[in-house]
Amino acid sequence: MQVDQPLPLLGGLSPALFMKRHWHKKPLLIRQAIPGLQPLLERGQLVDLAAREEVQSRLVLQQAHSAKQPWRLRHGPFTRRSLPPWKQPGWTLLVQSVDLHDARIHALREQFRFVPDARLDDIMISYASDGGGVGPHFDSYDVFLLQAQGRRRWRIGRQKDLTLQEGMPLKILADFQPDQEFVLEAGDMLYLPPRYAHDGVALGECMTYSIGFRAPDQVELAQALLQGLAEQTADAMAPQRYRDPGQRAATCPAQIPAELHAFAQAALAKALRDPQGLARTLGEFLSEPSPSVWFAPEGGGADLQRGVRLDQRTRMLYDARHIFINGESFQASGRDAQLVRQLADHQVLDAGQCARLSPGAAQLLGQWLDSGWLQPLTEPGAAHRVKKA
Ligand code: SIN
Ligand code: CO
Repeated sequence: MQVDQPLPLLGGLSPALFMKRHWHKKPLLIRQAIPGLQPLLERGQLVDLAAREEVQSRLVLQQAHSAKQPWRLRHGPFTRRSLPPWKQPGWTLLVQSVDLHDARIHALREQFRFVPDARLDDIMISYASDGGGVGPHFDSYDVFLLQAQGRRRWRIGRQKDLTLQEGMPLKILADFQPDQEFVLEAGDMLYLPPRYAHDGVALGECMTYSIGFRAPDQVELAQALLQGLAEQTADAMAPQRYRDPGQRAATCPAQIPAELHAFAQAALAKALRDPQGLARTLGEFLSEPSPSVWFAPEGGGADLQRGVRLDQRTRMLYDARHIFINGESFQASGRDAQLVRQLADHQVLDAGQCARLSPGAAQLLGQWLDSGWLQPLTEPGAAHRVKKA
């Protein structure tokens, strides 16, 4: 992606300028970010997805008649018959991670890859009947709200007080103070930084795509890294047992010797000292596929001859020394590293590029193909289409 070129998706700002001026800082309303956008999925197809066990979905119902409980939340899967009639006002169906299940929505993700893959989370789609919405709230992550069908009125506010109403089944701000209001039509998009108060209400039935991001929490990251490092420690450290030839006869036998404490501290420091161990664990953690994803092995047969593309559920990342794919790490250098990084960045390797892989790397990619992590490029135009979204 040309990060210094103006991008219609960002209202003519270049990705570089958008990141500098808006990302994490201030909202941006983009009229006709995708001119003439038609919904990529019909509401019936969204409902089919919400019926699947492995797809996370929620139904939010407004209960105007109940002052005590104005919101109701139900979790999927849902059959069509378990959802309210289309004509009933005030309900919303939210379907998470549609990009994992639908190639068109996955392709839409491509347009947002001016943000590193490690930060992109998923695309959620909401269908709302007239007046539907999830109430005034804030999210902990950045979000692009792309109007895909119909109209929605957004009210947003930079408020500091993010206290939530107690006893609600979903996050509802206790005192929402909007300071801006926009009506979005199909193709318009609103970017909001984390913790920005917002409330979107459907004007007639509508669909909204939320391009969401993830930002690991420091405690969660430390726990995952320590666990990952613990698994690698046995391989990385030479065995060494505590010795105490200088131990004096103990007068307080229950007291832990200071030398044993120092030995434990040194052991921990050694385990953390290997920078590659940390890099590996971080990459493995960040490239873990979504917990709902299961790859069905292809059982062999496919080859690299026609080229390959990443399966839409595969997460692939790299750093200076490693390649990470679906929670596993591999070392790569030279031409192989260059080619496999291209696969990660562009999500395809054409036949010519595959032919330049070393036999070892080709064998590895063959295994990824067998595991369903990669898919064969079946048509000659497929590489181009995947890239262009
Ligand atoms: C929605 O699409 O209804 C909710 C999206 C959001 O507010 O984050
Ligand atoms: Co939100």
